[in-house]
Amino acid sequence: MEALIERYKVHSPRSRALYERALAVLPGGTTRTSVFYAPYPLYIERGAGCRVWDADGGERIDFNGNATSQIHGHGHPAVAEAVRRQAERGVSFGAPSEAEIRLAEVLCERISSVEQVRFTSSGTEAVMYALRVAKAFTGRRKIAKCEGGFHGAHDSVHVNFAPVAPAEPEDRSGVRPESQGMSGYEETVIFPFNDTAGAEAILEQHGKDLAAVILEPVPGSRGCLPPDPVFLTMLREVTARLGIVLIFDEVMCLRVSYRGAQGRYGVTPDMTTMGKIIGGGLPLAAFGGRRDLMALLDPSAGPPVIPQTGTFNGAALAAAAGTAAMEALTPEAFDRLEKMGERLREGLSRVFRRREVKAQVTGVGSMFRVHTTDRRFETLRDTAYGDRRLSQQLFFGLLHRGILPFASGMGCLSTPMGEAEVDAFVGAVDETLVEDMGF
Ligand SMILES: Cc1ncc(COP(=O)(O)O)c(C=O)c1O
Repeated sequence: MEALIERYKVHSPRSRALYERALAVLPGGTTRTSVFYAPYPLYIERGAGCRVWDADGGERIDFNGNATSQIHGHGHPAVAEAVRRQAERGVSFGAPSEAEIRLAEVLCERISSVEQVRFTSSGTEAVMYALRVAKAFTGRRKIAKCEGGFHGAHDSVHVNFAPVAPAEPEDRSGVRPESQGMSGYEETVIFPFNDTAGAEAILEQHGKDLAAVILEPVPGSRGCLPPDPVFLTMLREVTARLGIVLIFDEVMCLRVSYRGAQGRYGVTPDMTTMGKIIGGGLPLAAFGGRRDLMALLDPSAGPPVIPQTGTFNGAALAAAAGTAAMEALTPEAFDRLEKMGERLREGLSRVFRRREVKAQVTGVGSMFRVHTTDRRFETLRDTAYGDRRLSQQLFFGLLHRGILPFASGMGCLSTPMGEAEVDAFVGAVDETLVEDMGF
């Protein structure tokens, strides 16, 4: 490992200098925890298509895509043109604009649960508002979330996300905050992903107090595990029966099909949160759902039950970029992404078998994750058993071989990619295993 870090340092002196400069003004030299890795992260200077260049000129294929948001890579012609045109006309106004109506129409047309939608600047806010709607609608205080699910930084959901130690108790409903300084999270109930009977028992137990059940139908950052359709159907049935608002957090997994994860698996929640790809790379997110739920935000007949604030909600620039990006995401574009995702997962599985490495790849559509364990995954807790050292070696091996992945082992595809880029990823993993790790 030390040798790989030394090699990394030799190739990144300017990133190191930027990091040292940043330390004076940004805690840890960055502005979000997820982009930091030791000894210091690469600082990116520019991107074009599916490639990015770091401060030292190193070129890499971008399998990170700013945490899966850049589904068209960098500088997609239609998105860039929409941004240029809107920038010339004004980027945001203290008034609604047609740009936000157009994006709202695209989302309402595609996503089955979304009869009406409201915009925010981040997925965190979208989740916060969806939960607020559910609480106001039901008059209940508690919510339930999946162990291992990620829903942003809001106090009630920033819990039980990180890998749990294998020794942790099997009781899955206990809540564990991921940060100090939070409050109110004690009202959150935890249930296991894909464990249909276990989750159902927990939801039945707390049912009359629960305003919302929230989950990523395809968990992203944590596991990239495909959902068991029986599990999703159970959640739909139980929440409907107990009067709980079912929220699909599709901030990340909307990218698994033209109609999102709910379209792919044929389960329609009451509300959906969206983000990342819907902003075309700019900060924009949304929550939407049934008309009677969204009516709580309607100010046209007097003060609304839920006043929504947010200076940049649906800002014209982001809405224009988002509309262009979504319109370029045709069913054909999703077919291509799907095929490339399959090619990548098959290629990696072949490599792990051939090199006899205890590793596996999971994923759906254009999302994937490498896990450094051969454990059989039943719930997201099982993904916590990876070999951290092996994961780190793979990460630095890939960085060295022209690939920008997530430090977590996750990755995503973008529309400018083709088979050559997918094969480059698989080849870089194989080379790392052989040349850097002696498999
Ligand atoms: C599923 C999910 N929900 C919510 C969020 C939070 O979104 P944001 O980072 O825009 O606040 C994320 C971000 O990664 C996410 O993946």
